[in-house]
Amino acid sequence: MPLLLGVNIDHIATLRQARYAHTPDSPNAEPSPLQAGLDALEGGADSLTIHVRGDRRHMQDADAFRIRSEVPLPLNFEMGVTEEMIGIALKLKPDFACLVPESREEVTTEGGLDVTGRYDATRDAVQRLQDAGVIVSLFIDPDLPQVEAAIRSGAKMIELHTGCFANAMGSEVDQEVDRLIAAARLGHEGGLQVNAGHGINYTNLNRLFVVPHLAEFNIGHSIISRSTRVGLTTAVREMKERMAAYPF
Ligand code: PXP
Repeated sequence: MPLLLGVNIDHIATLRQARYAHTPDSPNAEPSPLQAGLDALEGGADSLTIHVRGDRRHMQDADAFRIRSEVPLPLNFEMGVTEEMIGIALKLKPDFACLVPESREEVTTEGGLDVTGRYDATRDAVQRLQDAGVIVSLFIDPDLPQVEAAIRSGAKMIELHTGCFANAMGSEVDQEVDRLIAAARLGHEGGLQVNAGHGINYTNLNRLFVVPHLAEFNIGHSIISRSTRVGLTTAVREMKERMAAYPF
């Protein structure tokens, strides 16, 4: 199976909100997250990721519903584990929901969702979403207890947090890669689809190619940054070309 690319387009909404926070639906409001989704599709994205945050700092509810109905790509809805977001997800019916931390108490040491610490709330959210046909992914640090808890929760997927890997220097990089390898192996053995994301860019992705069992990279910042030089369609295409070298 080729490594799939999920493109996170939240930054497009961040830019729009910088000027049009009070009138995101005005005809002047730009850039358009919907157009970004269509451009990502043209560049070969395999799915789109959007995150409606509790504070609505970038994507708005209307963006999510518009993208869901007008972009013919699988939609990954990133969401905090709150009643409000579960309610939106149950109406939106994305293909996937990726549960992410939004408040301090939900965060593990390095920034993933604390599934072990907030096990019951996480498992309940997983069940409610998956009962409604939404496949759930848990965004977790590459820590084995978190992977074990994810397996027990019934979620079908995990997304391994690659932020520490992306920030590592020198010999730390190998240590972070080793953690990702161990977490990917355990997740795969436990029957989970294993994805990865956060801080992956055009140059560091090669270092992740020794991690087995990866199904998808979720990438936002580096692709949107590159799009300011070459356009989003080309930026996505360039990332897909590099990802084709994943050997597993
Ligand atoms: N995966 C998750 C769960 C995220 O929240 C984000 C955005 O922070 C990403 C992947 C993409 O990260 P980046 O923008 O660093 O590529």
